[in-house]
Amino acid sequence: MIKKYILGISGGSGGLYSISVLRGIIGAGHKCYLVTSKPGRRILSLETDTKLSGSADKDKKILIDKYGLDGNLLEVIDENDVGASIASGSFRTSGMAIVPCSTGSLGSLANGISRGLIERAADVCLKERRKLILVPRETPYSLIHLENMTKLTRAGAIILPASPGFYNLPEKIEDLVDMISSRVLEKLDIEPENLKEWKGE
Ligand SMILES: Cc1cc2nc3c(=O)[nH]c(=O)nc-3n(C[C@H](O)[C@H](O)[C@H](O)COP(=O)(O)O)c2cc1C
Repeated sequence: MIKKYILGISGGSGGLYSISVLRGIIGAGHKCYLVTSKPGRRILSLETDTKLSGSADKDKKILIDKYGLDGNLLEVIDENDVGASIASGSFRTSGMAIVPCSTGSLGSLANGISRGLIERAADVCLKERRKLILVPRETPYSLIHLENMTKLTRAGAIILPASPGFYNLPEKIEDLVDMISSRVLEKLDIEPENLKEWKGE
């Protein structure tokens, strides 16, 4: 059965994680509704050779061409389109991830301030008690960041920091990226291709 997932890319370092999650959702045969913030696109373009424009149609084509994604399974939505399907709780999805999730987005979400479509869609997941996986990338964390994460955890979100482990002896950056994206996919009930389970020493 094809499931519907929402992926938000906000302005944190770690664009490689978001692309890996996008490929994982669509590669597993599920539909992905993708929303990117302006800082999210800026940092993605700085850290990878994926240069998104902010135009939904153009960005869909860029992603399909670059990663060979099934176009029927990708819908890119403008972050300002707060009237989009995913802005309403009546549009049922199997969950959402924000990868990376900026501390700014964490702060808005923790306080129910839906500045744009990423935050509105995430707010909907919280109110509808759907899966919401947040991948912050910041160091160190301030008390405000930690309190916001605590509040969001109480509200049902899963905080999954972009902090890969080293016990599986990663050999390249992709191994570290896969470690995080696999955990995100697994939390969304998608069987990850690259999850290396620890089997004991
Ligand atoms: C190069 C660059 C790197 C950044 N890295 C991070 C980061 O790792 N984590 C974070 O929370 N914010 C980071 N920021 C700041 C956010 O992008 C900024 O707070 C932005 O307003 C977040 O907006 P958004 O949540 O709407 O995407 C970075 C900004 C820039 C320009």
